[in-house]
Amino acid sequence: MLSLRLKTIENMVESGVIVADIGTDHALLPVQLVLSGKISKAYAVDNKSGPYQRALSYIQSKNCEDSVIAVLADGLTSVPQEANCWIIAGMGYDTAAMILDQRFEVKTGQQLIVQVNHGVDNLRKYLMTKGWQIIDEQIIFELHYYQIIKAVKVKSIVRLKPDDITFGPLLRKEKNSVYTEYWILQMQKLQKIVAQLDHGSKRAQQLQKQIHTIRDMLNG
Ligand SMILES: C[S@@+](CC[C@H](N)C(=O)[O-])C[C@H]1O[C@@H](n2cnc3c(N)ncnc32)[C@H](O)[C@@H]1O
Repeated sequence: MLSLRLKTIENMVESGVIVADIGTDHALLPVQLVLSGKISKAYAVDNKSGPYQRALSYIQSKNCEDSVIAVLADGLTSVPQEANCWIIAGMGYDTAAMILDQRFEVKTGQQLIVQVNHGVDNLRKYLMTKGWQIIDEQIIFELHYYQIIKAVKVKSIVRLKPDDITFGPLLRKEKNSVYTEYWILQMQKLQKIVAQLDHGSKRAQQLQKQIHTIRDMLNG
């Protein structure tokens, strides 16, 4: 049984693609994608021997060795060109960006599903500057709030406004209940900090500005 986070990623994968799950750990996601019949081939990649061994054992226990190929390698360095949907989940922004930077030339149409534990705004900025267009965004709550982004490589850069980078170009349009809850919580956290600061201080003014931006977005 996949966690809600991994289940959400599973739902964002298109039928028939060839997945490369980078930082696969147990290989739960690629195995589930194959067992459900959604895809017929996946690469389960990890750069550490412990997770790689775990992935291998799980793949074998589910008799998926022919369709889920375990790879012990750093990021995208050993992923074949045929993998047209890369998944990078459960890492920080810096690691995810470092992995994506391993590919200088990415084919137009390549798909990418990314979930970073921190720095989702940096991730959106990164994707924009590298020619990835965000085509789906999901937010879920499972002990923590997680934002998951699906993007496709395009020929020319699709510009995002500053609010798109902070709030997500699609999430901020949809504004579902989990998203609203998340941003109300962020606003309350900032309000608590402001309450402890000298009101005239530069920091307090900066935070007030952020609070207004969040309020405007929620009311917009
Ligand atoms: C927290 S786990 C996430 C597992 C799974 N992707 C998920 O979202 O539940 C992160 C995994 O990424 C692997 N990892 C970290 N950096 C990596 C890299 N450069 N290349 C491949 N795997 C990496 C770690 O070894 C670890 O198994």
